[in-house]
This record gives sequence, C-alpha cells and structure tokens, in this order.
Amino acid sequence: MDDSDLSSALLFEPIIEGILTNGYGLVDTFLTPAEVTGLATRLHERRAAGQFRAAGIGNQQVTVENTIRGDEILWLEEASATPEERAFLQRISTFVDYVNQTCYLGLREYEFHYALYPAGTFYKRHLDRFRTDSRRKLSVICYLNTDWQESEGGQLAIYLPGTDEASESQVIISPVGGRLVCFESGRLEHEVLPATCERLSVTGWLKTGSIPFVSLG
Ligand code: OGA
Ligand code: MN
Repeated sequence: MDDSDLSSALLFEPIIEGILTNGYGLVDTFLTPAEVTGLATRLHERRAAGQFRAAGIGNQQVTVENTIRGDEILWLEEASATPEERAFLQRISTFVDYVNQTCYLGLREYEFHYALYPAGTFYKRHLDRFRTDSRRKLSVICYLNTDWQESEGGQLAIYLPGTDEASESQVIISPVGGRLVCFESGRLEHEVLPATCERLSVTGWLKTGSIPFVSLG
C-alpha cells in the first residue's frame, strides 16, 4: 500500500462504514476547497454556454415536472471533461475500485451529472432506482457550495426505515461544499428541500454491468 492508497482508504473507509452501520455514508473532505471552487466555476461556465437542461423524471418516457423536481443538469462526459472534471471522475473511479475490494456489489460503471437547483426549487421524496433498471447500486452526491449557511435550507433529507412506518426516522444533511453523501439507491427514499439561493452539486450513480443481477431481497 503506498501513500495514495492509504489516503484513499482514510477517505473511503468512513463512507463504507457509514453505509453499513447507518444506511448512509458521509465525508466532509471528499473535495478540497480549491476543487469545489474549480468544479463550481466549470459548472457556471457550462451553464452560461447553454449546456444545461431541465432534469426529467423516469427513464423510458422522460418528462419534466417542476412540481416534483426543479433542478437543471448536465451529464459529465469523459471525452469532453476539463482537468477538474477528469480529476473528479478519477477519484470516483478509485472509490469504485475500493468499494469493489471491500464489499461485493460488483460495480462496473458510473454516471455523473452536475445539478443546479435555482432558488426555491426542490426534489420531492423519491427513490433513485428505476422500476425497469436495477443497475444503480449506490447514489453519490458531492456538494459544490462554498460558505453554505444553515439558514439557506436546501438540505438533503434521507428517510431511514424503521420496523414500521411510525418508527421511520429522518436525517437532514446540509449541502456543504466538499461533502460527499452516499447511500444504497434501491433502499433509501430521500428528498431535496428548497433553498433560498442556488444550490450546486455533482450527483451520480455507481452501477453494476448491463446484465442486471437477480435481486433476491
Ligand atoms: C438526485 C438527488 C440529492 C441532493 O439527484 O436524485 O436526490 O442532495 N439529489 O442533491
Ligand atoms: Mn435522488
């Protein structure tokens, strides 16, 4: 194990540990402040260049529903990635390797998009997995908001199932720059609460290969 393996382990282990013990994992230092600023700058440039689209819902007939989600997104492509974006995808790829060595999820692919929620927009309670496609195993959200204040709202609310409906609990997470949140896509419902200002992230999914595993549970 060299130094970079060691620092990856220190960064990634708490995420895995969190998922196994609490259902979700969180680290505050996945990105450095300079990386947050770099990606946020690229995001704004790309949006100004007209590359963003209103996000849709569904995977077969995609429709835009502002009453369900109000974010604008742009998928990251390896081929057209800037150095900042490539560095981000590289860190995700290292994380995928780490997950594959420590858990048996059989991750093969990942997909990420920038997301911008204009002030006042939200994403209602939902599950990230499509009914007709179960390849999304882990949801990953990485926030790009410098100096986010509690009073600005925009939290991610994750619903943790209890033994019955009444014992369900909620975790509330602020979209603080550099922070990464990760949870099982098919298991935890969650929502994005409205914020008083623009809210930025890079969001994506770690997936199994094209031949879906048969799920027994
Ligand atoms: C999503 C999502 C959460 C967040 O894009 O599916 O739930 O905190 N995002 O941005
Ligand atoms: Mn989601």
